[in-house]
Amino acid sequence: MPNQRHSYFYPTRIEYGPGVIQELPSMIKESGRSKGLLVTDQGLESAGIPEKVRNLFTDSGIELITYNEVKSNPTCENVYAGTIVYKESGSTFIVALGGGSSMDVGKTIKVMATHEGPLEQYDDALGGDCLIQNNMPPFYAVPTTAGTGSEVGRSSVILIKATNKKTIIFSPFMLPDIAILDPELTVGLPAGLTAATGVDAFVHNLEAFWVDAFHPFADGIAQRGMALCVKNLERAVVNGQNISARGNMLMASSMGATAFQKGLGVNHAIAHALGVHYDLHHGLANATLLIGTTKYNIEYENARAKLASLGSVLGVKNDADEIVAMMSNWLRRLKLPSDLKSFQIDSNDLKKIEKYALADPSCPTNSRKVVAGDVIDILERLI
Ligand SMILES: [Fe+2]
Repeated sequence: MPNQRHSYFYPTRIEYGPGVIQELPSMIKESGRSKGLLVTDQGLESAGIPEKVRNLFTDSGIELITYNEVKSNPTCENVYAGTIVYKESGSTFIVALGGGSSMDVGKTIKVMATHEGPLEQYDDALGGDCLIQNNMPPFYAVPTTAGTGSEVGRSSVILIKATNKKTIIFSPFMLPDIAILDPELTVGLPAGLTAATGVDAFVHNLEAFWVDAFHPFADGIAQRGMALCVKNLERAVVNGQNISARGNMLMASSMGATAFQKGLGVNHAIAHALGVHYDLHHGLANATLLIGTTKYNIEYENARAKLASLGSVLGVKNDADEIVAMMSNWLRRLKLPSDLKSFQIDSNDLKKIEKYALADPSCPTNSRKVVAGDVIDILERLI
């Protein structure tokens, strides 16, 4: 609220442009570093993208050692194994190349490079952020998907085996030193994944905008981020080579993650639960829930009015029901489901899913206060 005290963090350096990845070696060379760790995954290796990046660095006289075993739901083992490679190779910086998983693992290797294990002691939910010092190596984030926006975020989510919990590791010092937004690196993403990750970016912007907090910076960014998604995602899905649409989606993704410093909502809380219990892809989970959670939220008058105010941003009338219809049509055109009917969610699991969602850090900032039974109600209408 305007008469209260607030802190905002918007310091990420962003280098945007088709082909801008070619400039990363010289940006790093300026700091006098000559050997670093590349964190990526096997899927990208098969697509040949890490090889191109390694060649760019070799041509600039910088050695890149690779750790490419990042899993789609990254684990502490990924972090520990990558940290060993980092230390044993004598690396002095980290480049993460990929989607949110590689960026999260890269960010956490940055922490473990200079901090003692085990990782679970840095659990943000247990106050672990206070243990993270600003003595870490430089970190450069290069997204190859447009959705998570992890390249501008200060946290990572890692599955810790000892506690069997997706754990948030957070510190302002984990913010990447430079985010490289190169739309040419995203042109190979298949249409289905482009659509799902793009809707994740849209939901970040929407849920952040909806959070009831005084944050005009985030609100402005979120509105523009949503407009970019609605104007460009379909174009990027239909023609993956469309650099303009790809570039706008990369921006919308970074904008969403910048805006959600304000918080997220119940859509993400349930998506996280479905990720843990059904291994559902995060972007796809967000898409399946979007209409159900929006209808739930707009039963609350304040949330309804706030959504209605987005009409001009989304190209329809300032009317909440029209916006729901617009989003529903948009998902259909993107060939994404707007319910959970095809995912065989067991009705016996709804209690377990709700328990996880209510405890998720995204839940308390939802535009409507979520109480016991609400998540089950939302899910019963979607399965
Ligand atoms: Fe998300």
